Amino acid sequence: MPKTYTGKDIAIGFDMKRCIHSRNCFLKLPNVFDPDRRPWVDPDAVPAEEIAAMIRTCPSGALTFSREGAEENPPGINRMTVQENGPNAYHGNLRIKGEPMTRATLCRCGKSRNMPFCDYSHVEAGFEATGEPAPSGKDAPGESPREPLEIISHENGSIEARGALEITSGTGKRLHRGTRVFLCRCGQSRNKPFCDSSHKAAGFKAPGDA
Ligand code: SF4
Ligand code: FES
Repeated sequence: MPKTYTGKDIAIGFDMKRCIHSRNCFLKLPNVFDPDRRPWVDPDAVPAEEIAAMIRTCPSGALTFSREGAEENPPGINRMTVQENGPNAYHGNLRIKGEPMTRATLCRCGKSRNMPFCDYSHVEAGFEATGEPAPSGKDAPGESPREPLEIISHENGSIEARGALEITSGTGKRLHRGTRVFLCRCGQSRNKPFCDSSHKAAGFKAPGDA
């Protein structure tokens, strides 16, 4: 269950199951986030705006905040970045299982126990995949960049991203732009990050969205 740490000016939410251990939080704000302290979050240690600014950089969305008059707005375009040997990181106006969010890292190794989210299982699994894959060849401008990006998990298959989306490599090179794309989450595609139907031959099993 996600936890909430409520301070005078900000409430910080933390969902451990979605943390990908990028360590942004405790490297940037060690007085607020200290894994050796209990509770590990102190929402009053620094001004609330500093905490909000840091939380906007948490790639997984494990950290969220609520603060009167300073809600987190999605960026102008929906973007997904391919992480080397790791998950796909989304930032935008996202809808996942119908829930609105702005940041999420989604599994692409096929091993997460918290699908569709990355739960760091790729490290234990020794997942290897480049963060600099070949472009898809599709570079069509999104029709309505501020519209929500629906992210749909297909049972025993891919993740469908429906809505305007730009995909970039780990170093920011644009790989794809369009309004509907199917992405590998079984870890077996020979055309990562895109699905090439290898999940069928691999016998991949994972729940889909209802
Ligand atoms: S994913 Fe977010 S909560 Fe987890 S270590 Fe990184 S910044 Fe902190
Ligand atoms: S989900 Fe991996 S190839 Fe389709």
